[in-house]
Amino acid sequence: MKIIGTGSALPKKIVTNDMLSEFLDTSDAWIYPRTGIKSRHVISDEKLEDMAAEAARKALADAGMEAGDLDMIICSNVVNEYITPSLSCIIQGAIGATCPCLDINCACAGFIYALDIAESHFKAGRVKNVLIVCAEEPTRMTSWKDRSVCVLFGDGAGAAVLTEGDNIKGIKCSAASATDKLYQKHILEPTPYITKEEESIPLQMKGQDVFKFAVKASSGDIRYLLDNLGMKADDIDWYLLHQANMRIINSIRDFLGQPAEKFPTNVENHGNSSSASCPILLDECNRKGMFKPGDKLALSAFGAGFISGAVIIEW
Ligand code: COA
Repeated sequence: MKIIGTGSALPKKIVTNDMLSEFLDTSDAWIYPRTGIKSRHVISDEKLEDMAAEAARKALADAGMEAGDLDMIICSNVVNEYITPSLSCIIQGAIGATCPCLDINCACAGFIYALDIAESHFKAGRVKNVLIVCAEEPTRMTSWKDRSVCVLFGDGAGAAVLTEGDNIKGIKCSAASATDKLYQKHILEPTPYITKEEESIPLQMKGQDVFKFAVKASSGDIRYLLDNLGMKADDIDWYLLHQANMRIINSIRDFLGQPAEKFPTNVENHGNSSSASCPILLDECNRKGMFKPGDKLALSAFGAGFISGAVIIEW
């Protein structure tokens, strides 16, 4: 398969580090050096499904394709207002598609996992055109009283349209269960029979453990793919990494021994938008005309689970 269109959509509200310090014991002087984040887009009156549909429509327009041409929609999402129906079904209706739809929750690595699922369907000859939409509102998962977590995240949606081709050179998906490192819990509807204790817990994070996992997993996944494909880190033109933290990106870059120019970033203005992060960055770079046909792109992401994944694409 190959990517022939990208799109993204962001909430209009921009929250700077200085704005956070108005109600939290934090500062730009703490946040920026540790994370590289200056501001993030935060949902206010928007609905996530509308942003997801907007990103999808832009990706379809970029691909020159109609929604009716789609054979499958895969939506990556950790949380949204609906438990059911799936976000992909809501997007399907909003854009006027009629194809089968499925949602996945692979945390921040959702775009890579969605590409992997799509690739399997292409290889099986079951689809000709697939839409992937990653739509996330992690700012609704964190406690806004917890300065160690809420400052890291932003909301948004990113989408990609795929068609038949031979441009995905390799995909690696990994998982290593470590459920106490990054998690959120919520209470389901009560029944007369529930006797166990349940509690609602906003997003909890062991930041330094996540940091170490992220660097190890991401550089390991990319290295695995390079070795398998007989490629060197130098052969990759662009590294599009999950935009969680500039220090994580720099550590992976150091491990790969590659120059900063190959690592476009938007973490400065977006924070971590979970699985939407990679496709939003892909769309921003695509719309700037940064990629030439034949360029080699390595995308890599990591997140709660722990889950990670990487893909090498020829543009
Ligand atoms: N503003 C001010 N101080 C803060 C703060 C904030 N927003 N958040 C935490 N602190 C404080 C802590 O309370 C702690 O204070 P103490 O030493 O008095 O206890 C101090 O800063 C140091 O905290 P620490 O956790 O040691 O900082 P760190 O250098 O590990 O950086 C992260 C914290 C979160 C930036 C870093 O661990 C990280 O980026 N981890 C990865 C997170 C991530 O990417 N998650 C998503 C993955 S998908």
